[in-house]
Amino acid sequence: MFDRYGNDDSNYNQMIIEEIRKTSGKVADLIEKEYFRQKENVELIASENYCSEAVLAACGSCLSWKYAEGYPYERTSGNKGRYYGGTKYVDELEEYCCDKWREVFNTDYHVNVQPHSGSQANFAAFGAVLEIGDKILALNLDNGGHLTHGAPINFSGRTYNIRFYDVDEKGFIDMDDLRKKAHEFKPKMILTGASAYSRIIDFAGFAEVAKEIGAILMVDMAHIAGLVAAGEHPSPFGYADIITTTTHKTLRGPRGGMIFCKQELARKIDTGVFPFAQGGPLEHIIAGKAICAEEALRPEFKEYQHQVRLNCAAFADEFVKMGYNVVTGGTDNHVFLLDFSDREFTGKNLQTACDEAGITLNKNCVPNEKRSPMQTSGVRIGTSPMTSRGWLEEDFRKVAHRIDEIVKKLDKEKKSE
Ligand SMILES: Cc1ncc(COP(=O)(O)O)c(C=O)c1O
Repeated sequence: MFDRYGNDDSNYNQMIIEEIRKTSGKVADLIEKEYFRQKENVELIASENYCSEAVLAACGSCLSWKYAEGYPYERTSGNKGRYYGGTKYVDELEEYCCDKWREVFNTDYHVNVQPHSGSQANFAAFGAVLEIGDKILALNLDNGGHLTHGAPINFSGRTYNIRFYDVDEKGFIDMDDLRKKAHEFKPKMILTGASAYSRIIDFAGFAEVAKEIGAILMVDMAHIAGLVAAGEHPSPFGYADIITTTTHKTLRGPRGGMIFCKQELARKIDTGVFPFAQGGPLEHIIAGKAICAEEALRPEFKEYQHQVRLNCAAFADEFVKMGYNVVTGGTDNHVFLLDFSDREFTGKNLQTACDEAGITLNKNCVPNEKRSPMQTSGVRIGTSPMTSRGWLEEDFRKVAHRIDEIVKKLDKEKKSE
């Protein structure tokens, strides 16, 4: 993994690139270019991270060759049997992976580690407990929700009857609005969790509202799962009926998804993943997930997540001091949003200008967004990747000033147009 200066203390990636070059110069060249881009740039994408070489190696291992449709989860859900022979070792691996993740989150929930991604996990979870046309109350994209939380362009918005609860004028989730809409709309499911929300989510409050109307509570903790694992954000376990996550964001594992659920939903969730949503599980990725869980159980992981949060608070604070409009005025987690609704340049303009300056971040909608999702009025900034590279508060404060210079230049250019 790269250190704070971009040095790589292992030659793992170079070794892989040279192996690939024996077959395809083109692919090797492109991977190598991306390797140097990542090494040389300041990576501030809130949903990205650098996983360990052990995780990368598992993902490129012989497990990639194995088919294993079905489940080994006889012990935990009664779902038994694979549709292929030769699964003795992948069975043991998958059960080990599940056990480790229960240990990470200190829970007796059932876990399914097969979803290929966060979107697949959500697709499978909805399919497990909802019928086409059922009602979901969720957080919309402009306020920080994910595409799969009911965006009209996504399967979720096309398959289910969606209504959205709002954030208040400062950008905090409005629990009164949630309660009011829950009682009016009577959804079968209340969904929370976000892709761009910088504050603590009150899972106990959500559970209370869900109980009042007899709704299923689903939490998509894809972004904050690492913080939850380290005790840096309150846990949804014990409150939510279903919890989905990705494994590649704050958790710092391979690209993939997982679903946790109360034991009584185990069979439905398993069936929702396979055969409803997917075919064969990616056992090589499941091996990566197991390693990620082992890493998450180490004391260094807790220290890392704590630093992610300290760094993010300092980073957001520097922007506040410079007079920027930080949505909600700060952050409790690994991410925050800068709102440029009152400027002539767009989030996309700033993303492009930052890219040219070697800073990678992404355009993002902000509450009360007036521009299209391809333009946006904001940018999203996260501290997980650079904290993995050893950055501390002062490093992020410095980069806030570099971004400020880019913003001032953009302002000037727009005014002179
Ligand atoms: C809250 C949330 N859920 C789900 C997903 C989807 O994950 P994936 O990209 O693995 O499908 C994301 C991805 O950004 C997310 O932020």
